[in-house]
Amino acid sequence: MDSPTSSVITLRINGEAHTLPVDHRTTLLDALRERLDLTGTKKGCDQGQCGACTVLLDGRRTVACLQFAVAAEGREITTIEGVADGDRLHPVQQAFLDLDGFQCGYCTPGQICSAIGAIEEHAAGLPSAVTRDIRPEAGPPPLTDDEIRERMSGNLCRCGAYVSIVEAVARAAGARQDGRSWPADEARPDEGPAHPGAAAKEVAV
Ligand code: FES
Ligand code: FES
Repeated sequence: MDSPTSSVITLRINGEAHTLPVDHRTTLLDALRERLDLTGTKKGCDQGQCGACTVLLDGRRTVACLQFAVAAEGREITTIEGVADGDRLHPVQQAFLDLDGFQCGYCTPGQICSAIGAIEEHAAGLPSAVTRDIRPEAGPPPLTDDEIRERMSGNLCRCGAYVSIVEAVARAAGARQDGRSWPADEARPDEGPAHPGAAAKEVAV
């Protein structure tokens, strides 16, 4: 039941609806990890500085530790648990695996979600801070290592796997550009569920 400090909300995560009561101060990160057992999304700094908690909201990356769960209602949330297609890894996941884009792996779910968002942002022509020609008609800039480093700069890796991460993002971006094995967009709110028939799950108080 709703109260001045809590509400029952429904979050759409990886194509499934989850209904749960939350305190209004609950972050999306804590709702995912502590309430819904979706522990793939990691908590590093819990203050928006490390990127470990990166998820996709309507296909755009965001840090879940700075997002209130109630504000995510009505959005399509994609976490690391939802990026693969069954047993078939997302091209970004496969590239991280093939090119050793990780060591301990703690930052990896956030790196992968962020890379998916970054590749889509680049393909859409959004400039970064190091893009030289930002005229709309210039189109997406070459995805150089500098572009990748800048676009991934919100995701820290304590193990220092950056060289391999840049290679993995470049390979996955190439796969997208070639039209090779890049999955269709994740379900958006106006496109219906990614997994039709998925029933709303209820989480007890
Ligand atoms: S845990 Fe969210 S940015 Fe570090
Ligand atoms: S792989 Fe260990 S923090 Fe990035």
